[in-house]
Amino acid sequence: MTKDTETSRKSAADYRPATKLVRGGTKRSQFHETSEAIFMNSGFVYDSAEQAAGSFKGENAGYIYSRYANPTLSMFEERMILLEGAEAARATASGMAAVNGALMSQLKAGDHVVAPKALFGSCLYIIETILPRFGVNITLIDGTDIDQWRNAIRPETACVFFETPSNPALEIMDIAAISELAHKVGAKVIVDNVFATPILQKPLELGADIVVYSATKHIDGQGRCLGGVILSTEEFVEDTLAPYLKHTGPALSPFNAWTLLKGLETLEMRVERQCDNAEKIADFLGDHPGVKRVVYPGRDDHPQAALARKQMARGSTLVSFEVNGDQQGTFDVLNRLSLIDISNNLGDAKSLVTHPTTTTHSSVSDATKEELGITESMLRLSVGLEDVDDLIDDLGYALSAQNR
Ligand SMILES: Cc1ncc(COP(=O)(O)O)c(C=O)c1O
Repeated sequence: MTKDTETSRKSAADYRPATKLVRGGTKRSQFHETSEAIFMNSGFVYDSAEQAAGSFKGENAGYIYSRYANPTLSMFEERMILLEGAEAARATASGMAAVNGALMSQLKAGDHVVAPKALFGSCLYIIETILPRFGVNITLIDGTDIDQWRNAIRPETACVFFETPSNPALEIMDIAAISELAHKVGAKVIVDNVFATPILQKPLELGADIVVYSATKHIDGQGRCLGGVILSTEEFVEDTLAPYLKHTGPALSPFNAWTLLKGLETLEMRVERQCDNAEKIADFLGDHPGVKRVVYPGRDDHPQAALARKQMARGSTLVSFEVNGDQQGTFDVLNRLSLIDISNNLGDAKSLVTHPTTTTHSSVSDATKEELGITESMLRLSVGLEDVDDLIDDLGYALSAQNR
């Protein structure tokens, strides 16, 4: 034991990530429960009419209404703040509510937004279809080309939005370089960090202003509930985001917030183990004759392997690959799997496989899909916690159809 640990009393922010994930944000009620309590209530009561009036004037610290804030949600938000190293956060009912809130709370007619074409279908829908309806101009680019960011960002650019790695092509965007370009014109940088998770990548440390998550994915990680979270500075969250969320109402259920708190307790262990499995599976697929191409940010043959190593701790829990064959051949591979489930979800303890072009990205135009390499033979595998040898056996059997 060092002198330091003998004499200093640590605050929550000083703990290492694993400790923050288990303990961060916990506030016990008067009943001294071990696990966090679920405050499954919509409203709160006041001791007096004066106290109620004071609460609405912002003079008292207490809770008012669960659409505004709720103690179980506050515990989840605080744990996320500690993990991400953000100043403030707000939880939302889903990942898409987080993406929508991060954008719509700050944009106005005449603003300009830059984003890569390589986006999850619903994120692309908000940017390409909804924002222009409100007079926001958009520019969609190849986000892996920094010159395209340099050319697209202009004085009226209010924010840039991107996922890295992207869904499902696992393209890597340079968070530090894009942030530097955006900040020159005062634009806010929003990173959808779903694929990297807060364990593998810290966008705020790399220069981003706002991080959004679909907590539905790795944060729950056990296929139980939807949720989302937005993290940023105190100023952005309190002055811009909170009023938008309070008045539009995409509030997370307290029960789901509690489920996500339980999910966070095991997040680091799950992500590390899922990455162990994903690395082995990527190598297995890379050597398999039934596979045309494997895309995994942790492999040296990823087109942006050096950038991935620079900004991510590991290669992620997702592996995308192209089967040797047409759409029917790819469906045949999916239909021969007996352990890995066909699903559009990801980040789960159970391994899940997706055919993006006919499911998650079916609303994306054929031309964009072609540009992004989302072909009829591409599969996105979200690697779970099963024994990796069982997963490899399942994939090997399914792919043996392609060897014939
Ligand atoms: C990158 C990305 N962002 C956002 C979302 C939306 O999250 P949710 O389904 O929780 O609304 C998803 C998945 O659905 C996603 O993959």
